[in-house]
Amino acid sequence: MEIVPLESAEQVAVLAADVIETVVRRRPGAVLGLATGSTPLPTYRELVRRHEAGLAPSYDGVRCFTLDEYVGLPAGHPESYRATIARELTDALGIGADRVHGPDPTPDGLPMAGERYEAALEAAGGVDVQVLGIGGDAHLAFNEPGSSLGSRTRMKTLTEQTRRDNARFFDSVDDVPRHVLTQGLGTILRARHLLLLATGPGKAAALAAAVEGPLTASCPASVLQLHPHVTVLADASAAGALARRAHYREVYDAKPEWQGL
Ligand code: F6R
Repeated sequence: MEIVPLESAEQVAVLAADVIETVVRRRPGAVLGLATGSTPLPTYRELVRRHEAGLAPSYDGVRCFTLDEYVGLPAGHPESYRATIARELTDALGIGADRVHGPDPTPDGLPMAGERYEAALEAAGGVDVQVLGIGGDAHLAFNEPGSSLGSRTRMKTLTEQTRRDNARFFDSVDDVPRHVLTQGLGTILRARHLLLLATGPGKAAALAAAVEGPLTASCPASVLQLHPHVTVLADASAAGALARRAHYREVYDAKPEWQGL
């Protein structure tokens, strides 16, 4: 794992946008895996800013897969992850809805949604770079503690804590769905590059447990330790509990430019 301790959330966004653009420049038909939540928003804004300034690679051939989706929201609900990704990123980059895929949370689609999503990911050739956030309880996508490290896309039940954390996007915690469809930890591991973003003090303990603690289903994000190409970009407060923080920074500072991230 490459862990890059940075000063600010803005620096995280700039480096994350660099990583994503590098992938798209190398592979114009790249498949991007997209997380929602607050953490990636500055990165998405940076990508949109560069695109609007004419500085970005073409997204004309890019396809996107969302990490997860709420179950039980009416179609087109502004907080559905499909609507959120369109609003925050893909519409502005000119990536049409036909090139943005998400698991199907409709009552008819639900029973087969996991299998179908896995098949769609495979048919697309897999994800080139997967953007990830981390929950305060170290959940990854919506794989809450106890999720199988080999899991595939399926329906899961959110913990009370995660529903309370996400209540800020809704009128009240009662409006936050209990169920979600989420890529499994095993699904996430199949992406070629994992890009975990962590900002704010609320992520410090979870991030330290994920990258420096034991590999365990009790800490879903610790599954990152099994992947051969992980980049963790953390601001100063999220990196605050890392025991080897100074070493990670030393490694990054001494890194030859040709290696990239
Ligand atoms: C979002 C997702 C979640 C979030 C996590 C952190 O698609 O899968 O795992 O990444 O809950 O959320 P924020 O960034 O809002 O703190």
